[in-house]
Formats: sequence, C-alpha cells, structure tokens
Amino acid sequence: MTQVIALASVKGTGGVTSSALGLAAAFGMRSDALVLEADPSGGSLLGWCPTLDPTAGGLYEAAFERERPGLSTFVQPLGDIGVVVAQGEPYRIAAALERPRGWRSLLDGIADRVVVDLGRLFPGTPARAVAGVSDRLILVAPPEPGALAATVEWIGRGGQHEATGMRIESSRIGLLTVDTGGDRRQRIDPHRLGDELGVEHVGHLPFDGATLETVCRGASLAHRSMRRSRLAPALSAVVERLIVESRSKVRR
Ligand SMILES: Nc1ncnc2c1ncn2[C@@H]1O[C@H](COP(=O)(O)OP(=O)(O)O)[C@@H](O)[C@H]1O
Ligand SMILES: [Mg+2]
Repeated sequence: MTQVIALASVKGTGGVTSSALGLAAAFGMRSDALVLEADPSGGSLLGWCPTLDPTAGGLYEAAFERERPGLSTFVQPLGDIGVVVAQGEPYRIAAALERPRGWRSLLDGIADRVVVDLGRLFPGTPARAVAGVSDRLILVAPPEPGALAATVEWIGRGGQHEATGMRIESSRIGLLTVDTGGDRRQRIDPHRLGDELGVEHVGHLPFDGATLETVCRGASLAHRSMRRSRLAPALSAVVERLIVESRSKVRR
C-alpha cells in the first residue's frame, strides 16, 4: 500500500518544497519513494535540479493518464528517488489537481511512499482534493510564535477553511518545523516544542542549504559527502517516525 504524505504550509516563510524533496530522499534510502510537485502556484524543482528535463512532462500530463501505469512515464529519476514536476500556468496545475477521478487511484502502487508538495494552503486551493486523500498532512512552519500559532489554530479547526469546506481530521495532521534562515530573533527552541501545542510535532529540519543542493544534484543522503550534513539525520528521524506510525496504524 502506498503511503501518501502531503506537505503544505499555512503561514510562514516556506520551506515546503525543500522539505518535501528532503523527506522523499530520506524515504528513498529505505524504500521506493517519489516526490510529486503539486503546488498550485507552480513548481520549483525544474529550476533547482539541473538533470531534470523540462520537456518530459509532469503533473499535468500525468493527471490525464487513464491508468496508473501511465503515470510512471512522467516520473524522472533523481538519485534514489523519482520526481514528477509541476510546470506551466497555474490553471494547468489546478486542472491537474482537480482531476475528476481523483489522485488516490493514480498514486496507489506507484511507489512505497509519495511525498506531495501542495505549497501554501489558501481558501479555495485546488490542492484540497489531494490533501483530503493523503494519509498524512504535514504542515511546515518556522519555529516562530506567529506562524506556529496560525498553524496550530488551523490544525485545531480540523484543517477547516470556512470558505472551502476542506476538512481533514486533526489526528492526520502533523507539524514540521523548518529553519529556512528567517529572522532568528523570534525563534522558539524547536526541540522544546512539546505537547503544549496540542498537535503532533513530527520533527525539526535545521538550516542546511548545502545538503539540499547536493540532493538536487542527485546525490543519495547515504553518500559520504553527507557525513557532515545536519539535515540528513534530521530528515531520517522524521521519516523513521512516519514509518513507525504507518506500521502501527496497519496493525490496529
Ligand atoms: N532546511 C533548509 N535549510 C536551508 N535553506 C532552506 C531550508 N528549507 C528551505 N530553504 C530555503 O528557503 C527558501 C524557500 O524554500 P522553499 O522550499 O522553496 O519553500 P516553499 O516551497 O514553501 O516556497 C529556498 O531558498 C530554500 O532553499
Ligand atoms: Mg514551493
């Protein structure tokens, strides 16, 4: 069974695409993993990763395949993982996300794990359908009071946006704090974020652009150049936690 993990943000300085790529790379060390770019505002990976082919098609073309095996045509290799890029105008990405048959049937069986980049969630976002069929929704936020408060509040409302009726059980939503290099004066120590938030804190990703760049060039997180990486062990810890959780869910 494919585990679909969607990443998104509600408020803050981003880090969604970087975290999605990093988590897919960490999953890729142990199983078959894919990152699916599905941010309605457009993809980033074609610009970041020099070996990805902009003419190979991506989310839009994949969405209009009739059968799941057709989706694999649009998976490009990047080191240990596969990537489906999002390119083109927002209306094309929205049309792909709102694919009438939904995404779950397309993704089931394509890999052991699919990490989906949904970008920033806004009222009416076409990403809501994919968020709704994901096993986990992980919200990315910087460890700063304003962004954390907004994110935790959104989770507490069951992921509900009055404007859209989007609704996701709070128990399926987790919080991932990420240091993207923003204003550090506002910072809360991410390792001291405990149960008082009332949401599951799945981990913290430290500031480490060099590791992300190396992953974009196709290196495995297991490569020896990663020995001094701060991000690699943090990604592995988050992935470990998500794998253990999915196993215990199956057993229940
Ligand atoms: N863990 C990290 N360490 C260093 N830089 C990061 C990290 N995560 C994100 N960034 C940087 O922050 C910026 C925004 O990240 P990005 O992943 O594009 O966010 P989003 O997808 O939410 O817009 C990018 O320049 C990216 O390289
Ligand atoms: Mg992004």
